[in-house]
Amino acid sequence: MSRKILVTGGTGYIGSHTVVELINAGYEVEILDNLFNSKITVLNRIAQITGKKPKFYEADLRDKATLDKIFNDTQYDSVIHFAGLKAVGESVEKPLEYYENNIGGTVNLIEAMRAHGVKKIIFSSSATVYGVQESPEYVETMTTGGQLANPYGRTKYFIEEILKDTCTADPEFQVALLRYFNPIGAHPSGLLGEDPNGIPNNLMPIVMRVSDGRIEKLAVYGDDYPTADGTCRRDYIHVVDLAKGHMAMLDHLKPGVAIFNLGTGQPNSVKEIISAFEKASGKALPHYIADRRAGDLPEFWANPTKAKVELGWQTELTIDDAMRDTLKFLEHEKQQSLSQK
Ligand code: NAD
Ligand code: WQD
Repeated sequence: MSRKILVTGGTGYIGSHTVVELINAGYEVEILDNLFNSKITVLNRIAQITGKKPKFYEADLRDKATLDKIFNDTQYDSVIHFAGLKAVGESVEKPLEYYENNIGGTVNLIEAMRAHGVKKIIFSSSATVYGVQESPEYVETMTTGGQLANPYGRTKYFIEEILKDTCTADPEFQVALLRYFNPIGAHPSGLLGEDPNGIPNNLMPIVMRVSDGRIEKLAVYGDDYPTADGTCRRDYIHVVDLAKGHMAMLDHLKPGVAIFNLGTGQPNSVKEIISAFEKASGKALPHYIADRRAGDLPEFWANPTKAKVELGWQTELTIDDAMRDTLKFLEHEKQQSLSQK
């Protein structure tokens, strides 16, 4: 069986960690990314960890001709599709860019796959597709697409539906929709981590910037939620555990659509995340209580049982591991920037 895999968005946060796992498991990995939200230096970091630098295409999924050329060059066995825009707030301001990039890009990708006989795809979906549910513990059988808070979330929902339709039209297609909860942490080497271009909006990248002084204080969005300490609770999953979930999925792809939650099953509050970071760093993290953020739900987490039973995958790392690895990544970045001065 061919072990050639195309990873779209492979220089990004989750993609780069998954590429490391793939190379370590003996897959031949090629990356396609337009570097909109990642840096070319990630390729050297991957090489430092694995001893192999993956072939890289600086390309945009919206560019059909280039996609066709890439699929002509190599006969891939499968595609792992991370590439997309993911800033929730920005998606409200620029919905058409999100629809064009995420949905348009994915349609082009599926078309290129079909044209070149590549029929296996793992897609980065999100817990966001569940919208508002009666229970905060999300199970794969719940209805999706209702009361989604933003265009970003709708792109994930629509792409899931497009991939389901693709399978209906061609029963040989093998599709996995992986619904990630809240990925955090970094590679234990400190060489890879989350380093978004521009202003971050997820909790951990902001915590990181407060810790190194690039942002003065963390705004905690509300402490009057109906949770034990009043702050929102989420299912934070270490990015290396998440990357390993893709490996398990690759071994279990079969014709049709498979849907899995990738989460820990254990929520933590914003205050607990702050405490864990302070414990790992040994320093107070400046923060203050701000108003609630529009669209935030009080709490939700994954029911990860299906992945455990069917894929034999479950998380192994804790939020303390994630904080330790995040600090290692921050320290490495600091040393790098000092050595460049
Ligand atoms: P990321 O921004 O670090 O990685 C995405 C990569 O895709 C970036 O390197 C970017 O340059 C690239 N890209 C974007 N549009 C492209 C295009 N048109 N053509 C080629 N490359 C393009 O994000 P991430 O956190 O690694 O997320 C990866 C995937 O997982 C995304 O699809 C995201 O929506 C999804 N996801 C992320 C989270 C999260 O909280 N990080 C949660 C659930 C789902
Ligand atoms: C986590 C918690 C905030 C920033 C989003 C997307 C979701 C998925 C993951 C991709 C919340 C609180 C945050 C800050 C804070 N992404 N917070 N101060 O909102 O759970 O999910 O990212 O699919 O689709 O919606 O993640 O990291 O933004 O927030 O207090 O400055 O941290 O209120 O409770 P969220 P997040």
